[in-house]
Amino acid sequence: MLNNDQLAEWDRENFFHPSTHLAQHARGETPTRVISSGDGVHITDRDGRRMLDAFAGLYCVNVGYGRTEIAEAIAKQAHELAYYHSYVGHGTEASITLAKMILDRAPANMSKVYFGQSGSDANETNIKLVWYFNNILGRPQKKKIISRWRGYHGSGLMTGSLTGLELFHNKFDLPLSQVLHTEAPYYLRGATDGMSEQEFSTDCAAKLEAMILAEGPDTVAAFIGEPVLGTGGIVPPPAGYWSAIQAVLKKYDILLIADEVVTGFGRLGSMFGSDHYGIKADIITIAKGLTSAYAPLSGSIVSDKVWKVLENGTDENGPIGHGWTYSAHPIGAAAGVANLKLIDSMGLVENSGTMGAYLFKKLNDAFADHPHVAQVRGEGLLCAVEFAETKAPLGFFDPAKKIGPAISAAMAKRDVIARAMPQGDIIGFAPPLCITTDEVDQVVAVAKEAVDEVFA
Ligand SMILES: Cc1ncc(COP(=O)(O)O)c(C=O)c1O
Repeated sequence: MLNNDQLAEWDRENFFHPSTHLAQHARGETPTRVISSGDGVHITDRDGRRMLDAFAGLYCVNVGYGRTEIAEAIAKQAHELAYYHSYVGHGTEASITLAKMILDRAPANMSKVYFGQSGSDANETNIKLVWYFNNILGRPQKKKIISRWRGYHGSGLMTGSLTGLELFHNKFDLPLSQVLHTEAPYYLRGATDGMSEQEFSTDCAAKLEAMILAEGPDTVAAFIGEPVLGTGGIVPPPAGYWSAIQAVLKKYDILLIADEVVTGFGRLGSMFGSDHYGIKADIITIAKGLTSAYAPLSGSIVSDKVWKVLENGTDENGPIGHGWTYSAHPIGAAAGVANLKLIDSMGLVENSGTMGAYLFKKLNDAFADHPHVAQVRGEGLLCAVEFAETKAPLGFFDPAKKIGPAISAAMAKRDVIARAMPQGDIIGFAPPLCITTDEVDQVVAVAKEAVDEVFA
């Protein structure tokens, strides 16, 4: 086996890491961490260091690490049939079964699943479907997509544009011109003094409506949003937000894409965030929790309304000109089937609800009164603590101080992984859905020690 020094050298010389400070890493100023195994909520690195992963990788390993049921399903599929494509009506038992299992769990108005590999490519598919939809309906000018500041929808050309975080735009010539960004549903940062959550939601909807009217409703095709804002800060929607937004979309005949890459399959304590918040989407994006990241697989769940138009489109124009070599990859599909069975048999959606409430309570007990904690928030097993220099009036730290990254590093030193979210001093918690009360206690105790150390 190669030693760690050799691996670190090869890493610096050869490996182009995503979302990494390339220059610092190539110079060896940031460490190479080689992760070698995982079990339950823990990962172990090559040096034998075991850590509690309270962010489930990138909030995706929802059933936890080391599930032999999924590993065996993948191995069996690879032995029997590692690959066949899904073009022109082909499929495998796994891909067809998985589509049915997803539809059995999805909101009632959903009709079909298109499979991709990642959340990013699923959202690319969604935008193409929206454009196709409006072309078939004879509305070629209705093409603009409205996303939210702080939304995260991927990092491709279109999806990087939809993402409302400047880091993903700067120097990449994004966003593309068809994409607009509206107010983030971020009550803590966006509401003016004395505004209630409901008033703030009404205000967000009014801003959306003003944008639609300024652009011309005939030019706006779709709105995309995560039920709970994820990478942009882990922010549950303010009261009344989704009903206010949906009323505006309905008024101007604008499609709604619910990006459930994080919230799908149990993260909020319900199977889908759409059901959780009464969102009636036209398209739902899924990835991450679909396979708990045991294999790359994503999906676009298309509603009856959209599907009917797509069907008409192919009657008029021939087969749909969209597909990837790896759409509905059998290994991903086999992982998905085994994963969804495991979510059911382990009762993980329910556990996410109960453990989420417990985590939220423990975080609140530990931090609500802290002089530098602006807010503790969460829904299910998706929680965050946001830090500020002053609470009243609310004043955030200079980002250069890197308070969030310092807290996450102080936690990592104590063998617990929580994520410093990229915009703001926000520590995110999204552990595997199988987490127990003892493990939650450990996460919160370590977070407390870390915060004490950083503010000492
Ligand atoms: C809500 C949401 N949508 C889309 C994506 C993109 O998924 P991927 O990284 O698999 O392309 C992410 C990734 O974190 C996400 O959180």
